[in-house]
Amino acid sequence: MSPLFLFVLLTAVLGLSPDWYPTPEVGTLEASNRWRKAFNQSLDLLSQLTIPEKVNITTGAGLGAGICVGNTGGVPRLGIKGLCLDNGPVGISQTSHVSVFPCGIAMGATFDRQLVHRRGSALGRESKLKGIDVHLGPVVGPLGRNAEGGRIWEGFTNDPYLAGKLAAESILGTQGENVMATIKHLVGNEQEHFRKLGEWQNFGFKDLKAPLSSNIDDKTLNEVYLWPFADAVKAGAAAVMCSYQLVNGTQACQNSALINGKLKSELGFQGFLMSDWLAQESGVSNALAGMDMAMPGNEINGKVYWGEELTRKVVNGTLPESRLDDMVLRILTAQIYVGIDDREPNFSYFTTNIFGNPMPLPVYNNSFVEQIVNYEIDTRDMFSSNVALEGAQAAVVLLQNDGILPLKNKKTVGVFGVGSQIGPKGAYCGKNMACSDGALIVGWGSGSAYPTDYESPFEALRRRANKENVHVTGTTESWNMSLAKVIAQKSDVNIVYVLATSGEADAVLDGNLGDRNNVSLWHNGDALINSVASNGKTVVIVTTVGPVDMEPWINHPNISAVILTGPAGDYGGKALADVIFGDINPSGKLPYTIAKNASDYIPLVKQVPSDGRPEANFEEGVFIDYKLFDRHNKTPRFEFGYGLSYSNFTFTDLDLTLDSISEHLPSPPKPVPVNKHSTNTSISDLYAPAGFPLVNGIVYPWLKNDSTTGFSNVSADGSSPPAVNSTYHFANGTGDISDASGGIGGNPALWKTVATLSHTTKNNGPFTGSVVSQLYVSFPDSGVDSPKVQLRGFDKSPVLQVGESQLTSYDLHWRDLAVWDVALQSWRVQRGQYNVYIGHSSRAFVLSHTFTL
Ligand code: BGC
Repeated sequence: MSPLFLFVLLTAVLGLSPDWYPTPEVGTLEASNRWRKAFNQSLDLLSQLTIPEKVNITTGAGLGAGICVGNTGGVPRLGIKGLCLDNGPVGISQTSHVSVFPCGIAMGATFDRQLVHRRGSALGRESKLKGIDVHLGPVVGPLGRNAEGGRIWEGFTNDPYLAGKLAAESILGTQGENVMATIKHLVGNEQEHFRKLGEWQNFGFKDLKAPLSSNIDDKTLNEVYLWPFADAVKAGAAAVMCSYQLVNGTQACQNSALINGKLKSELGFQGFLMSDWLAQESGVSNALAGMDMAMPGNEINGKVYWGEELTRKVVNGTLPESRLDDMVLRILTAQIYVGIDDREPNFSYFTTNIFGNPMPLPVYNNSFVEQIVNYEIDTRDMFSSNVALEGAQAAVVLLQNDGILPLKNKKTVGVFGVGSQIGPKGAYCGKNMACSDGALIVGWGSGSAYPTDYESPFEALRRRANKENVHVTGTTESWNMSLAKVIAQKSDVNIVYVLATSGEADAVLDGNLGDRNNVSLWHNGDALINSVASNGKTVVIVTTVGPVDMEPWINHPNISAVILTGPAGDYGGKALADVIFGDINPSGKLPYTIAKNASDYIPLVKQVPSDGRPEANFEEGVFIDYKLFDRHNKTPRFEFGYGLSYSNFTFTDLDLTLDSISEHLPSPPKPVPVNKHSTNTSISDLYAPAGFPLVNGIVYPWLKNDSTTGFSNVSADGSSPPAVNSTYHFANGTGDISDASGGIGGNPALWKTVATLSHTTKNNGPFTGSVVSQLYVSFPDSGVDSPKVQLRGFDKSPVLQVGESQLTSYDLHWRDLAVWDVALQSWRVQRGQYNVYIGHSSRAFVLSHTFTL
């Protein structure tokens, strides 16, 4: 048994996350010339920085110390500017005149790499125009383990393979526009309940003593929850955000096994790791565990863990200066690599008024001079509007259709449901879009964005119907069915728009504390559908943040068609009208499974246990969503990957080319140490320059008094500092390098193409359109407990005319066939028989092939 495995095993048994120190240093792995150039420039800058200047780069200036949600300090004398960080991921949050793109879960349904890439570019372009340097998206955590998880709509899908591929495209798109992307949240924040102690005590959970711990075993972590982060790292993500809750008993942002061991060693992450907002619970421990940037820099109560304290801890030798240097290098290199210029933010996260306080929240800063903080720059252009529209169209999933769609030969259409009209507060319904009384545009929370022009599903349908002289009438009344019944009886066809929403735990909607209370439709949706259906042919349109229960109505004989979409942003209403009238042939596929029985979903932890320390044990292991249904032989209502078209597409002529595929990874390239030169900090550098206009409440890097510093690390004049008398000794961690490591994204051999598959895709009519094809793999039955099938490829065809065909191809990487071997602490490709399947969903395979390794 390897010492590494023994260590992992022991700590797992003891219920602790293992120690993993020290933080792997940036720049020690093979990287592109462009990256290396950025790194060398950063090294040069580093050599000129004093300790407080370095600290200023790593610590947010405090919540509201600038007009972005996150603002770092810069070093003006060297032209290093402070950064503006802003949400993400569906658009630029909390401001006007921006695109609201389809949310992650809607884009997940497109299975379209190219479209997600363009959405990433559009997000980057709009961010840059608003003066943002760091976009706080995309999201792959939550992954979507729990159907009721409040923020699952921010991510693409609960399938790690699909999530990883789409996140990578998103990052490439955004960073291609010179805006740093942030992959979040590392890792296991699958639910809102108990994510943060104070927040949930304030919700009334007085017995809570600690945030939730997501307990994830090693295999599951690698094969499921960390998997998409590997794609993101490989794509060159500038930043990673750690999450609020604990992972295996240790706060995520100070979890050395996770950050040092997994993210920075195994995955070879070369960017910087920032805390989620107020997720930092310590000072030196966070730094040693690998956190590089504190956000927003202070706690709500003004407490500061870094800033001056970080300076002090480096100066007195508690924290090695080399760790601070590494933080700085990571931030500067990412910034130079992505191409951050001198843009400045031109909007305020804190107000939608034009005039406001440029430092809105520092606690004692009352005497500010009002100035323009919102320039209301309209960032929407043809490119972003097209992406938002095409995304919304491609996100539409047709679940059932007896031929009623696309609508034809109808004279009257009845429209029903709260989801059909803009709610009473308007499309922009207030802070963080915490509302649910109208058509669902986005979920709520920091991940939302504000629509500027939004056309409701009703309006879009009416406008489109007018062209064909079809009359549309409707009601949103969903409790008293009298009017609905009259309209339904008089219409040739009825369309009911229902919804289910959720959000972040910063707002409570209809008793839902971020997470959903259940998977039912909101606003009496089930009863409304049944009432309408009992009075005529009915089409049901579900806009939802995640799986919903359809059993109360799905078998009603008058339900002719069912459509599902995620909250699809600005053009969600129009996209539905386009599909209903057949201007667009639906091609979306479910990015999750819809169960027949709500108890088949993995439940959230919503009760505080007697010790006050809630734990979510990910006992199902790698078997989430379709893998769980397959494992227990459960028939879902609609499986992962399912979705119909108005046309018939066939897949034929499967071809497979196989390389020789090794069982183990080759020994990874060894990290090559880098020489760093740091400037000598003098005592006077540690204090604010004389006359500096300090503002109360802002986080500065300078010391206020010198009584506790010890000054072991600085000299009076900066020329010859005394030797560092470090009081810190690394914990007894492993520091072992796994075979899985060695490059950006892990051992480069993980990413080697080992098999190529292709087949013919043909549109057999009767409609023009695109189709998604899916490739699943089943692993050998060799003692390793793996899912029956796993998604390992997908393709969205271009628009194919009736009768047109194309060659569809997929590349399988070595990692796509590998399992995480806990004993080896690395990946392994088992020997035995593999089956590959091409199909229309995770259960509808039409082509297959077998090979043996
Ligand atoms: C969220 C993050 C977000 C941050 C800044 C946090 O509450 O969890 O996703 O980026 O706030 O708004």
